[in-house]
Amino acid sequence: MSTEGSAVDTLTIEEAAAELERLAKEIAHHDALYHGKDQPEISDADYDALKRRNDAIEARFPELIREDSPSRHVGAAPSVTFAPVVHARPMLSLDNTFSQEDVQDFVAGVYRFLGRLPDQSIPFTAEPKIDGLSMSIRYENGILVTAATRGDGTTGENVTANIRTIAEIPNKLPKGVPAVVEIRGEVYMAKSDFLALNRQMEAEGKQTYVNPRNTAAGSLRQLDAKVTASRKLKFFAYAWGEMSEMPADTQFAMVQTFKEWGFPVNPLMKRLNSVADILAHYDEIGLERPDLDYDIDGVVYKVDSLELQGRLGFRSRSPRWATAHKFPAEQAFTEVEKIEIQVGRTGALTPVARLKPITVGGVVVTNATLHNEDYIKGIGNSGERIRPEEHDIREGDTVIVQRAGDVIPQILDVVMEKRPEAARPYEFPKTCPVCGSHAVREVNEKTGKMDSVRRCTGGFICRAQATEHLKHFVSRNAFDIEGLGAKQIDFFFENEDPSLQIRTAPEIFTLEKRQQQSLTKLENIDGFGKVSVGKLYAAINERRSIALHRFIYALGIRHVGETTAKLLARSYGTYEAFSTAMKEAAPLSGDAWSDLNAIEGIGEVVARAMVEFYKEPRNVEVIGRLLDEVTPEEAEQPVTSGSPVAGKTVVFTGSLEKFTRDEAKARAESLGAKVAGSVSKKTDIVVAGPGAGSKLDKARELGVQTMDEDEWLALIGG
Ligand code: IVH
Repeated sequence: MSTEGSAVDTLTIEEAAAELERLAKEIAHHDALYHGKDQPEISDADYDALKRRNDAIEARFPELIREDSPSRHVGAAPSVTFAPVVHARPMLSLDNTFSQEDVQDFVAGVYRFLGRLPDQSIPFTAEPKIDGLSMSIRYENGILVTAATRGDGTTGENVTANIRTIAEIPNKLPKGVPAVVEIRGEVYMAKSDFLALNRQMEAEGKQTYVNPRNTAAGSLRQLDAKVTASRKLKFFAYAWGEMSEMPADTQFAMVQTFKEWGFPVNPLMKRLNSVADILAHYDEIGLERPDLDYDIDGVVYKVDSLELQGRLGFRSRSPRWATAHKFPAEQAFTEVEKIEIQVGRTGALTPVARLKPITVGGVVVTNATLHNEDYIKGIGNSGERIRPEEHDIREGDTVIVQRAGDVIPQILDVVMEKRPEAARPYEFPKTCPVCGSHAVREVNEKTGKMDSVRRCTGGFICRAQATEHLKHFVSRNAFDIEGLGAKQIDFFFENEDPSLQIRTAPEIFTLEKRQQQSLTKLENIDGFGKVSVGKLYAAINERRSIALHRFIYALGIRHVGETTAKLLARSYGTYEAFSTAMKEAAPLSGDAWSDLNAIEGIGEVVARAMVEFYKEPRNVEVIGRLLDEVTPEEAEQPVTSGSPVAGKTVVFTGSLEKFTRDEAKARAESLGAKVAGSVSKKTDIVVAGPGAGSKLDKARELGVQTMDEDEWLALIGG
């Protein structure tokens, strides 16, 4: 495979160009597999190695960086602000229709406008109305040049850097496309990705997002393209702006052409000949709606013939040839039977409303999240009112439930007229309902505000926290032990037989041995059996050696999600080095602390959480037992053959003029350097641009090598 190609520093310019071309294709191929439904063909590590090789070659031959380079695709440097983009053609909105009669009126209006009789059939297309953000993506000579949001329809925001990170959107179109192509469509977040993101947020004890649409918008309208890249946004092409040449003469054929050019298009789009057929397709899409992995809020009908579209033209803000047939809002009234509290891994007490079962948009809803005690009172995350004060949610209340993109339904409001006289404000518990420990709302050290989440202080003595901890430990991105799911964890946790009990992670790995010496056999217990027990042991034993970042993530340290775990693994290299540093680090002083904070992407909150974690003797004891059973692997180091800065810690400071900070960092890392945010004794090089201040002073004070941008470029070979 390409990662085994010749050392980057021995490549000729021709060899480098050929290899970059091959890498661009190969990585695009794996991107497509990864982001499509298919299974990836290579491991994440192999994929990363391909990308690193691409980066290393580009670092040596920056003049060879291709328009379609994978380094531009993900993590490309964002523009500093969102510059305005005037749309070559305005981005219009659609008229809404809400009933069958409205739709009949719309179709009749089209016939009337064109002077056609109903028997001279006019075909329409019908497709889902995607609940995302509309985007206009401009290609010149087949290369993506600008991507802009809709804005006010005339002027949008330039979000090109972020859009380039969306794997589903090609950076380059096939040969032979018109010189100017503007593809329009909807950027959205899949429901499953949204749920996974929220699970991750929850696991990290962070605030969860409200719905996929807002999350997608937030992911796009921020300046760090890496954040966009991590959010797995998707795209459906359904319209166009300026086109130097029209490749087809119907709506349907245009969209098929976009598909051929590499854009995802919606599979539910159909061409139909009568109002009855259109309405039938509306019903069909409505029935499929709950099973689709993206939110839709209606069906869009468009006149298929582009010639007729041209004749029909526009009203002030919307075309005469299209309309959006909206679904009725997915809301319903029901009763709150009970409010219960769930306790999570980090001790968060989450109130859940048990509802009298109700069908909302074709799905039976029995629970709704109440988020936290403020939400029950009608107060939002920033202390703002989201409902009038008397509209607090009480047991017995009749409420409006909404099932939006998120699968966990929300309670929007209380129907005050139906409040039973006996209903009393909900008293949020001040102690953990599982273990009885105090439950407290911490003050956020940064904002000084009280956290909206109340947490159980019981730690390991809390059964809920302990089992959730184990469930996290075996979860997919951690130890990923097949056959050990939530149900089995509960079973082993509750079991009183010492040969069958798992209360902490190390016991997972001693289970087989304990079983061998015991007369109570797991295989005789209901739900297990000989084959599945054999498989379970095999799955457990397979994980006796594990990637360092998975090991760190599995520990379940608050605020340490997968990304942070990867950063830590890469920075420290071995578990030994990592744990030694964590035990040494004391907040706000000493080298270990400044080294930890110097890792780009690690802030003080995370650093504190880790130090706290290692201060707890019980954690250290459990990890000690775990290390008797499991070996964390050494973290993979980037391909750095011949790099003069491999293994060095570099700090960039001042305003850089030759490259953006992201670019500098990416290049240094591709050459095997670690990029840190602050200067310490362990810093090897400080690269100072104009206006560098305290960091440069500190470097001089500590005798750390300093250089300007040109010297740095000379060192790394341009
Ligand atoms: S066609 C000139 N098709 O709905 C008409 N729009 O309310 C161009 N939308 O701004 C739009 N799915 O963001 C069209 N299949 C679809 C759509 C769709 C979602 C959005 C789009 C537009 C808004 C209008």
